[in-house]
Amino acid sequence: MKISKIICGALAAVMAAAFAGCSNGSEKTTLVMATNAEFPPYEFREGGDIVGIDVEIARAVAEDMGLELVIEDMAFDSVIAAVQSGKADIGAAGLTVSEDRLENVNFSDPYTTAAQVVIIKDGSPVASPNDLMGKKVGVQLGTTGAIYAEDIEDATVEQYNKGFEAVQALLQDKVDAVIIDREPAKVFVSQNEGLKILDEEFTVEDYAIAIAKDNDELLEKVNSSLANLKSSGKLQEITDKYISAE
Ligand code: ARG
Repeated sequence: MKISKIICGALAAVMAAAFAGCSNGSEKTTLVMATNAEFPPYEFREGGDIVGIDVEIARAVAEDMGLELVIEDMAFDSVIAAVQSGKADIGAAGLTVSEDRLENVNFSDPYTTAAQVVIIKDGSPVASPNDLMGKKVGVQLGTTGAIYAEDIEDATVEQYNKGFEAVQALLQDKVDAVIIDREPAKVFVSQNEGLKILDEEFTVEDYAIAIAKDNDELLEKVNSSLANLKSSGKLQEITDKYISAE
């Protein structure tokens, strides 16, 4: 009798401890990254894997936190919502910091300066972004390029789920130009004959990692990892691996 009581008591204590352990943050072991792997060299599929600059940055951040990186590939225009709802911990998708997005999520310190550029076909009459007036412009849905395109006077904006689909539309003369970020533009142009990028860029912007508004702890951790990546030269190393200097 006495012994069973002791055992019961001990068991209860163990169980209480176990429950406390569960409620204590349920032992987070992963860092979930929302992305859209249609954006070389930042995130793209290579064989069965998703690779790229953002993936390597996110993996380094996860490592610093002792967590395993899990990548959730989704439509680009779902990335911010996934972070906002907590479905993902971070959004790393060549995400441009914008006032609109800052209403829904926080951004880390920027990790690169990027630009929106214009892709045209060789021989196109479009010689500068000003010539896009009244033209048909292809963009990737939900991107800053899509937002800027809406401001071009009398232009018709065609939205595609993937940047590459906008480029295909250009190749098939369904649009006159594509507005997209410079590095993916370079990749798409190198993979297809007869395309070029206008010298004059459309806008200059910053890429950063999106984090839920209430998660200041994660924001600080991401920023300190980014600072380490910058000061150690690792960020440059990752960039050089995917982007060759011209
Ligand atoms: N920088 C642009 C934006 O933030 C385009 C990013 C697209 N990224 C992607 N993974 N598809 O809107």
